[in-house]
Amino acid sequence: MPTPTQPPLAVAQTAPRGADVLVVGLTDDGPIGVPAELDAAYTKAFATGVADLARSLGAKTGAGKTRTLPALGDGPRILVVGVGAATPTPEDLRRAAGAGVRQASTLADGEPLSVVVSLGADEPETLQAVAEGALLGLYEYAPVSGRDPKPRRVGLITVLSSATPDADLISRVELLARAVVVTRDWVNTPPNLLYPQSLADQAKALVRDAKIGVEVLDDAALVKGGYGGIMAVGGGSSRPPRLVRLSYAPRGASFHLALVGKGITFDSGGLNLKPGESMYTMKCDMAGAATVIAATDAIARLGLKVKVTTYACLAENLPSDTAFRPSDVLTMYGGKTVENGNTDAEGRLVMADALARASEDEPDLIVDVATLTGAAVVALGDRTAALMATDDTTADRLLDAAESAGEELWQLPIPREIRPRLDSSVADLRSTAKEKVAGALVAAAFLRDFVGEDIAWAHLDIAGPAYNDRSPYGHVSAGGTGFGVRTLVALAAALA
Ligand code: BES
Ligand code: ZN
Ligand code: ZN
Repeated sequence: MPTPTQPPLAVAQTAPRGADVLVVGLTDDGPIGVPAELDAAYTKAFATGVADLARSLGAKTGAGKTRTLPALGDGPRILVVGVGAATPTPEDLRRAAGAGVRQASTLADGEPLSVVVSLGADEPETLQAVAEGALLGLYEYAPVSGRDPKPRRVGLITVLSSATPDADLISRVELLARAVVVTRDWVNTPPNLLYPQSLADQAKALVRDAKIGVEVLDDAALVKGGYGGIMAVGGGSSRPPRLVRLSYAPRGASFHLALVGKGITFDSGGLNLKPGESMYTMKCDMAGAATVIAATDAIARLGLKVKVTTYACLAENLPSDTAFRPSDVLTMYGGKTVENGNTDAEGRLVMADALARASEDEPDLIVDVATLTGAAVVALGDRTAALMATDDTTADRLLDAAESAGEELWQLPIPREIRPRLDSSVADLRSTAKEKVAGALVAAAFLRDFVGEDIAWAHLDIAGPAYNDRSPYGHVSAGGTGFGVRTLVALAAALA
């Protein structure tokens, strides 16, 4: 896998000499970030300032809309990006920066561009958001190809700000962006090239020089340990399952956070085979695992004072003569038995083993992240993840973290009447309900059975936002989005 390369990032009060493109914003209230001397130069040359010129050329205030203004002498091209609201939130600015820099990169012909982003980011929070958006918006998955890699289109990003950033703001932004980009790259890697062992290897390589302990349970260890869910789901593939455990235990940490991620490197549905159209994007079904691994790496590198133990459940769900079946009864980690309702409901089975295992570590909070149900996509669309939690304090922790990261979570309940739908006559419980209602809640109710009593738990169903199978928007690229990474890092920062 190519290691993600990001252009260097700088913060300055004025544009550097030789800048090629200057990205400014257009809100419903008018332009933001236009340097006064540039406005004066435009007024002199065109008898109209940047605002009027942009408007007469049809620039729109709608989020992500872009317009390039005519060049002025040897100064930078001005690219106007729609920001939307007159008083933009940090996330509005993050998105505008992403869209602006992505569009700016298309202006390159040959030499990498020096791009300046000026969106009036004069507070540390907005400055960080703009810098993040600029790095994330530039991401594009490098195709698997024998050809030479595409030349770099942007060589330097400079964010204009009147604020003097603290010394390590830039490295914090770079670390966070790298975690998101690694997640996107893993999700985008075709599933013949990314499988349980290879993802485990890449996780190891990623955290190698961070203060993180790594343990990889192979299939023999999983059988021995009694991980009946992970082994059943991975049983149909010649590429056997793995359970990756990462531990970050900084001195002085008092809070212990456990993360659990779904890592189905390809979900064909198994014997309950998916129809072709819904199978095509199922390389994304390891996004939860990628997210928790990359977030753990970032948390450690940021040196956040919180103990983190992370489990990534890696398996490939394929039909074969060794595949598990609908109606099989599985003995899960910890001894509970499960009657398998549908081999396409595989995520909850691998997650159940890891939730039970994570509970043994007695963490203060378990957060799991999984592309778990199509029902979550039906309910909330493809930009909002479903949140379910044991209690409101826990839910609020997640909602606050997501808000500060600019990611959308929406809380759903686990109503009391759901769990009895999973009663089984041959096992402790069934994996699916007979009635096809409230699929996201049923899956959450199933998972809750495997979380240790009295342990706070939150479940993020990211089936919608993990993967963008339409065009890029804001700082979100096509394909894997890296959704959840920034929320988890913000959560850890809040707990530290
Ligand atoms: N990986 C899918 C869920 C999914 C759907 C992820 C769309 C991303 C986008 C999951 O394993 C699955 O197939 N779930 C089934 C469960 C059902 C059989 C109870 C579903 O949602 O249909
Ligand atoms: Zn499935
Ligand atoms: Zn799945």
